[in-house]
Amino acid sequence: MSLERIQEKWTRFSVRKRDQTRNLEHFHESINLVLAVLLGVLVSFGIIGPAWADLRADKPTILITGSNRGLGLEFARQYAAKGWNVIATCRRPEEAEDLKALALEQSQVVIEKVDVTSDADVAALALKYRDQPVDILLNNAGIYGDVKKQKMGALEFDELEKVFAVNTFGPLRMSQAFLENVAVSEQKKIISLGGGIGTPRIGPLVPDDYFFKMSKAAHLMAMATLQAKVRKRGIIVSMISPGMVATQHLVDSGYTGKSISAAESAALVIEQIGRLDDSLGGKLINYNGKITPY
Ligand SMILES: NC(=O)c1ccc[n+]([C@@H]2O[C@H](COP(=O)([O-])OP(=O)(O)OC[C@H]3O[C@@H](n4cnc5c(N)ncnc54)[C@H](OP(=O)(O)O)[C@@H]3O)[C@@H](O)[C@H]2O)c1
Repeated sequence: MSLERIQEKWTRFSVRKRDQTRNLEHFHESINLVLAVLLGVLVSFGIIGPAWADLRADKPTILITGSNRGLGLEFARQYAAKGWNVIATCRRPEEAEDLKALALEQSQVVIEKVDVTSDADVAALALKYRDQPVDILLNNAGIYGDVKKQKMGALEFDELEKVFAVNTFGPLRMSQAFLENVAVSEQKKIISLGGGIGTPRIGPLVPDDYFFKMSKAAHLMAMATLQAKVRKRGIIVSMISPGMVATQHLVDSGYTGKSISAAESAALVIEQIGRLDDSLGGKLINYNGKITPY
């Protein structure tokens, strides 16, 4: 066979291959287009829904902040195990491996991105779930702050702003954004974690740590004020102290005494949330059920 003949054969082969590849690409594009249109039709007719449609209308719903680790993760696990819909929020869902594993096991757990210091994050979530009743808003996210910056003689006030942004403004921002979701739910509860250390009776027993204590004290005031505002609508706002719990929070505080596990504490807190009624609205409740006056 001459060289020209081989070249001619090779060119014909290449053209045929190129056409086949193009046809295949067109085929894939067409299939994708058909699938996209089909998906759009199914969603608009309510036959299937977006990710959050895994939440079941016949089950109660809890929305938790800071649910990627510590107590928040335990609350997500334990409410999911009870069959609740769980809107599990955290700052970085892409890194929330334990939460992702839980959502894989339990389809009624949905993970959402929320930094409680961000107006934009909270507003976007509220918009997305505008028609979703929320039986319990659980304001769990919290930070201790850097203890070295909270000592008399070394106070650094930009740290106070950081601690307040999460512990005080965060629960208030979330409560404002989801108030109507709670109001239309069956159980109507807004819960925030912690507070004992923010009372004048307990706080001074621990030296320094000004900013953490101040943030929890201001948070108590914010939540008590909210309770007064919404009581007539049947909404219960309570603060629950989870005890000394072996999480990163406790490590950050420098405390090295006795503690309970996150699983144990979450179970006890869930018990307290379950027995809340109007008489406990606005109260600071310990994980063992005792009321802490403030
Ligand atoms: N552990 C205790 O002994 C104890 C005692 C009394 C009260 N509490 C309260 O219990 C709550 C939970 O604490 P924990 O012990 O579970 O602590 P933790 O293990 O340190 O967990 C704190 C959680 O808050 C999240 N978080 C921090 N900043 C956030 C922000 N800006 N937006 C959203 N999430 C944020 C963290 O997320 P990242 O992973 O993204 O940082 C994490 O998920 C806190 O409010 C704490 O004050 C704990």
